[in-house]
Amino acid sequence: MKIIEEIEKTRQKVSLNNEIYKQKLYEQYFTPLDITKYMSNLFSDGNNLKILDAGAGVGNLGAVTAIRYLEKKSTNNLELTLIEWDERLIPTIKSNMKIIKKQYDSFTYKVFNENFYFFGKNYLDKGLIFDRIILNPPYSIISKSTEEEIKILKELEIKTPNAYTNFLELGYKLLSDNGELVAIVPRSFCNGTRFTNFRLKLLENCNIEFIHSFVSRKEVFKEYGIFQEIVIIKLTKKKVDKVTICISDKLTKTRCEEFHKNEVIFINDRYKFIHIPDKVSDRQNLEKISKLTSSLKELGLNISTGKVVEYREPYLTNSKENDVAIMLYQRNLVNNTIDFNIKSKSKSYIFKNELTINKILEPGNYIIMKRMSYKENKKRVSSVVLKKEDFNNKNIAIENHLNYIHNNGKGLELQLALGLNAFLNSEILDIHIRRFNGHTQINASDIISLPMPSYETLYNVGKLILENKIEKDKIQELLYK
Ligand SMILES: C[S@@+](CC[C@H](N)C(=O)[O-])C[C@H]1O[C@@H](n2cnc3c(N)ncnc32)[C@H](O)[C@@H]1O
Repeated sequence: MKIIEEIEKTRQKVSLNNEIYKQKLYEQYFTPLDITKYMSNLFSDGNNLKILDAGAGVGNLGAVTAIRYLEKKSTNNLELTLIEWDERLIPTIKSNMKIIKKQYDSFTYKVFNENFYFFGKNYLDKGLIFDRIILNPPYSIISKSTEEEIKILKELEIKTPNAYTNFLELGYKLLSDNGELVAIVPRSFCNGTRFTNFRLKLLENCNIEFIHSFVSRKEVFKEYGIFQEIVIIKLTKKKVDKVTICISDKLTKTRCEEFHKNEVIFINDRYKFIHIPDKVSDRQNLEKISKLTSSLKELGLNISTGKVVEYREPYLTNSKENDVAIMLYQRNLVNNTIDFNIKSKSKSYIFKNELTINKILEPGNYIIMKRMSYKENKKRVSSVVLKKEDFNNKNIAIENHLNYIHNNGKGLELQLALGLNAFLNSEILDIHIRRFNGHTQINASDIISLPMPSYETLYNVGKLILENKIEKDKIQELLYK
């Protein structure tokens, strides 16, 4: 039997004997052999390599990576370091290492029965680093960390929302200048503002060279019943301008394409979302979107969530008196228009007083947007322009299920509002948002991170719309030209 098959047997055996509660407690979802081989083949060749496998399980990832180099004879000496905090797994790791050592003289190994965070701190203090790091880290939320772990992470200046992002951050800290790190992790770090600081630090310290995205949630760790969206990512400290992105269901029928790094992480995006196309046909869209040079912030605009929370607001009323503002609810947005006459149980007005005044808009032009997208909506973004004339000399207050775009609390020029609203409703943007934003909620941060056409383009398109001088199917062309 080949060595790697022998090691795979130990993985299967340990998984089978692992009691479910321990598997859950220690996050012991081990990597199947086909994925392990695939990951280890992502590393480039090198000499006298020091390899790290942290959260090693039975040592399968490190072992297969080491064997890959040893078989090719592409390295003189190879030292593999394995860290695993569960002492029950240490004998298996050691016996797996012995099997490799027996066959390859140039192979040495070190096994640490230790918490990776403590190991990492100790190594960094001594200035010790690695050339290749391979990881399938635990995926638990950080609130599960012990006090000692929190303390050591603070000393390491690592503060991320999940154990897997802690492992990644500590991983790249331990990487040499020409080093490479390959990890299999959930996709959640790619977007969402919770991971913004993690992404900013990651991209300051290394480059993403490769991403493999698994379209189906079920395939990778199906033997463990894990249904997260998973990616394999390769980070390097070397300068790279291109990112290879592969997409597949399983590891068969993989489609790979190269993208410029600015097509994956948009230059103007202050949240640095990582855009993974899930269809090759996305390329054209991605090119168009990533070429847009502006953003909400550069346009001098802001987005806020409606400030009236219906069930907590004591000043809602149905009386049409003078000192009231009109309430705008999401149900008033119908087919890209605003209809104030929709009947419902909700109160139609809010009293104006010193406690409600900061919830109320002055007459002006605003873009109003639903925060949730519903099945009946054709597009993910459902937005309309609330025009100054809609105010009818009254004020308007926005309910909390809506977001609105404004200019420091005031309205926008009508042309700009019309142009920007056309952009938000464009088909190209819809495809982009659907691909990238798996959930149905459109957060303010999603809109803030969008690249947008320049002020001039938006204003000019808005002007043409206002003057009725443009056909509908020409709008998109002008917005993305
Ligand atoms: C998802 S499993 C992956 C195991 C193996 N690398 C593989 O790919 O099959 C994560 C492993 O990390 C270990 N682990 C979790 N947190 C750890 C920590 N802070 N320090 C060291 N090991 C840890 C768990 O016991 C588990 O064996």
